Amino acid sequence: MTIKAVVFDAYGTLYDIQSVAAITEEAFPGYGDIVTQIWRIKQLEYTWLRSLMRRYQDFSLITRDSLAYTLRCLGLESDPGAFERIIDKYLHLDLYPDAMAALAAMRDRKLAILSNGSSGMLNTLVRNSALDRVLDATISVDTQKIFKPAPDAYRLIESTLRVPPAEVLFVSSNPWDACGAKAFGLNVAWIERVTPEAMALVCVKSDVVAPLTMFKAIRTQMDELGLEPDYRIHALSELPDLVASHEP
Ligand code: LAC
Repeated sequence: MTIKAVVFDAYGTLYDIQSVAAITEEAFPGYGDIVTQIWRIKQLEYTWLRSLMRRYQDFSLITRDSLAYTLRCLGLESDPGAFERIIDKYLHLDLYPDAMAALAAMRDRKLAILSNGSSGMLNTLVRNSALDRVLDATISVDTQKIFKPAPDAYRLIESTLRVPPAEVLFVSSNPWDACGAKAFGLNVAWIERVTPEAMALVCVKSDVVAPLTMFKAIRTQMDELGLEPDYRIHALSELPDLVASHEP
């Protein structure tokens, strides 16, 4: 298999969406974890619901709406300043520590992001994390007005990079996204950051399931969708060797 391009999901794959917990906990002491988890779950849910209803709104609005839902359902009042500080964190998410080195080691291939994020959000986040130094393109689904895992979203890779799906390796830690990319015909590496063994250990150990544990159970385990990634890895740092074993 030739790999001419490596294309990454952004939120949860290159950027740690759990890093918003620092801001949510500061704004709502004792609620940081549950706010962070409900927010991400509803954010994704809204992308799927709006895609199915054909009522697209960009990811920045969906991120605001899902945060508003979260605070309302938890009965948390926030002043506009606190709300904006939390939302602003999405422009400054922590890059996974191995991301920059992994991408820099693959500069002999085209490197890009394909994300549900709006162009504005993504370009700011990529610039703030200096990932623009190693990326050839940052692709937002915004032009298609439909979110991943819709095929039209993944179609943007070929139209932007001029590389056919058979020569692309798509990388995501989001199981639903890995399955969507596989269904479209891309080669897929899924980053399994939470193993079933780790899940079982945490769930068995405590009779009270923390919000983060519930999130891991819902959003980090491979889904039953009849699709399998081509590669299961545990970190971005494994990618350079995997890609190097394939012709550019
Ligand atoms: C992304 C998130 C939704 O598309 O995973 O970057």
